[in-house]
Amino acid sequence: MSVASAILPELAAQRAEPARRSAPRALYHALLQPEPDADTRTRAAHHLRRCLLQTAGQPSDLPERPQDLHAWRERNAQQVAAQYEAYLAERRAGGARRYFGNRAHALHFLRAVAPTKLVDGAWLYGLTAHAENVRLAPLVHTYLEELGDGAPSKNHVLLYRRLLARHGIAVDDDGSLPDALYQQGLIQLALGWNAEEFLPEVIGFNLAYEQLPLHLLITSYELNELGLDPYYFTLHVTVDNGHSGHARQACDAVLGLLPRHGDTQVFWQRVRAGARLADAGVGTTQVIRDFDIGAEVLRILAAKAPAGHGAHSNYCRVAGRSVNDWLADAAQMPQFLQALVDSGWVVPDAPPHQSRFWRLLQGERAEMFGVFSAYELQVIHDWLRGEGSSDGQAWDERGAANQSPRRRPSFRAMQRAARVDDGNTAVAQPLPLDPDIPAFEERLRPLQGAARRAALVAAMAPGEHWTPTGLHATRLFRAEGLC
Ligand SMILES: [Fe+2]
Repeated sequence: MSVASAILPELAAQRAEPARRSAPRALYHALLQPEPDADTRTRAAHHLRRCLLQTAGQPSDLPERPQDLHAWRERNAQQVAAQYEAYLAERRAGGARRYFGNRAHALHFLRAVAPTKLVDGAWLYGLTAHAENVRLAPLVHTYLEELGDGAPSKNHVLLYRRLLARHGIAVDDDGSLPDALYQQGLIQLALGWNAEEFLPEVIGFNLAYEQLPLHLLITSYELNELGLDPYYFTLHVTVDNGHSGHARQACDAVLGLLPRHGDTQVFWQRVRAGARLADAGVGTTQVIRDFDIGAEVLRILAAKAPAGHGAHSNYCRVAGRSVNDWLADAAQMPQFLQALVDSGWVVPDAPPHQSRFWRLLQGERAEMFGVFSAYELQVIHDWLRGEGSSDGQAWDERGAANQSPRRRPSFRAMQRAARVDDGNTAVAQPLPLDPDIPAFEERLRPLQGAARRAALVAAMAPGEHWTPTGLHATRLFRAEGLC
């Protein structure tokens, strides 16, 4: 195993100016506020226009005529099914996982796509205020399904937040992800907050985004194989199905909304332009290809350096220098890591317990217990094990020290063994204890008609709908027949 020689450029930028957020990332967060102001929404609209210009020349695989949409959808679905069947055959014949080399790789993927997954469905938000329009209602229903109709166990964003938290991955932006990973989520938020101006583009984006891609099937399969909960992804395999799910509904929505009085061709070209936006930013397979476990270990150590500097005794020395001295400058992490290897603190390509460094992090009386999150421990664990980590072993797996080669149980197998209840009865449960619920109830009580609808719609915004108040508002929106 070689120590990566350079820290990621994003990390260097982060060190230089940790407090500053790039314009797209700042806009992403501004659009996640409960009610972005007019200036923020205008900036989001400008951003969309820029993205539309940038993607205008790119090829579109949509048919020339909207009437051919269903044939296009069926052709795509058949193609994906055939490709997935080939993938399964490859795996049955003993082929290696196609996406995730080890468990750290899979968790890194969950982390890297989080800015997109945490705004899932946002592009349709702007239509909820117009749910009484019968032609828009199917798309509002799609949005409500993204929100799990207010059930915590079905709300896509909440499911993803829980998935991240379960594996010790930061849910809130700690500035450690590259700006490029915010691009797709920003487009989705910008569409959601500017639906009135970009209605054809919203419909087109939805059309492209809701088709079942091959990567979703493979991701689900390999997460499960690695013992990681694939539910967020399998849920999308089922809700996006071409027969009755979102994929078909998205085609029906385009056909149902084609202008009866305006210029259909202009509208259709704008739908196609909106569809191209679904490919903007860093794609799933690109994120997976870009994983570099050595660089990720360096990033993790560099992020810990400011807190670790001064926290060690001066007796702690590596290669003749105190650990405090090594940690004084995060840019020294590649050299520090190499010094750990050279001095025998880290034993590459071996069971982690053979490294003194790992024994500081884990085990009886580990002196650095709790310093690293579960995600960070998995990355360090898999980096230490090198090629051996391809067996998918979890960092805290019992008997890990024995390194016995055996087939790991899939997530579903473990779930069956544990008889886990997925908690799908949440809709009927009483309101949870939350500081915002009483105030929201108080505000809602005197409201009727349009004012009440507006208050509920506001609480169902992309940054709000996954909270107890947002879920409550979603259930009321449904129960009061507002869509
Ligand atoms: Fe979703």
